[in-house]
Amino acid sequence: MATSESLSSPKVVFGVQHLSESGIQKIPEVFVRPPSERPNFKGDADVVVEIPVIDMSELLHSSTKEKAMAMLDKACKEWGFFQLVNHGVNSELMSRMRETWIDFFKLSVEEKRKYAPDPITNEGYGSRVGVSKKQTSDWGDYFFLHCFPEKARNQEKWPSLPPSLRELIVEYSEQVYKLSQTILKMFSINLGLEESYIPDAFGGDELVASMQANYFPKCPQPDLTFGLSRHSDPGGVTFLIPDYNVKGLQVRRGDKWITINPINGAFIVNLGDKLEIISNAIYKSVEHRVFVNSLQERFSLVIFFNPKYDVVNKPADELVTEDRPALYLPTTFQDYKKYIMIKGAQGKSELQVLQKKN
Ligand code: OGA
Ligand code: NI
Repeated sequence: MATSESLSSPKVVFGVQHLSESGIQKIPEVFVRPPSERPNFKGDADVVVEIPVIDMSELLHSSTKEKAMAMLDKACKEWGFFQLVNHGVNSELMSRMRETWIDFFKLSVEEKRKYAPDPITNEGYGSRVGVSKKQTSDWGDYFFLHCFPEKARNQEKWPSLPPSLRELIVEYSEQVYKLSQTILKMFSINLGLEESYIPDAFGGDELVASMQANYFPKCPQPDLTFGLSRHSDPGGVTFLIPDYNVKGLQVRRGDKWITINPINGAFIVNLGDKLEIISNAIYKSVEHRVFVNSLQERFSLVIFFNPKYDVVNKPADELVTEDRPALYLPTTFQDYKKYIMIKGAQGKSELQVLQKKN
């Protein structure tokens, strides 16, 4: 996947938030998606299916464990997405984390511009502007930073305002980290692997956890663009605090898009491409997207748990059989991310590139 194209990060001229607040009635051309790729609000309204709900307390309790593990397994195989309730992460901490990030986005442009994205690590404050001319930009701003491993924490790159933000990030990410380890072990067990298989395949203590705060401003023409265009998450597993009041996240199911109705306090958990690869496609990394609206802004907070960047991931030997040969070529997360950065996320096309021609 080596390429000679330059890898510099997209240049951000204006945050989408400030474009939105300027009161424009028409969105700039760069945000307008081709007619075949626009939201279909009318059609989507017909789909009333809900994604699976998994109860962590049932997964941990001996009398309910077996059934709950089977539900989890089914959710990973059929949806690649679920809502996780009774997960044990402190709900007050979750709310404070969310609210403090929202306060960050309310700071002045000058304050936020101090955190222009680092061209190498991508940490910082920016907007999703297409890298090449052909790419459409998404209607949203974000802040991206690394939380784990601890040595990758560069608090210089984390916002110094609001004053409690850095401390909250540490406390919150530690709780979600523990939860993610429990879930990754359960995935391993359900796949018939050693419980530490997936945590180890992600590099053990060197697993990389990155936080992304997503801010989707009001959009005067929500039927022409997306807050996040369709993509699958490239890494391991994603824990999302959605906006409990403003819908926006949609998950692909065949040729339909299902709008998620978030349960108050739940996490939305989804599996990334690396889990599809390691599980030899028994588990699915499913496409999703975010629509925007003209009346309310939307905020979501994500932690991505990804393999250490230079670990080679491939289908687990135990899951490769004569009937089911290895479906993907080995790759590192580093090479995979580079590829996506150049091409831009295009649904699941990047995973197809790794598909073996058996
Ligand atoms: C993402 C993502 C969904 C959301 O950040 O990768 O899919 O609801 N976010 O914001
Ligand atoms: Ni995503």
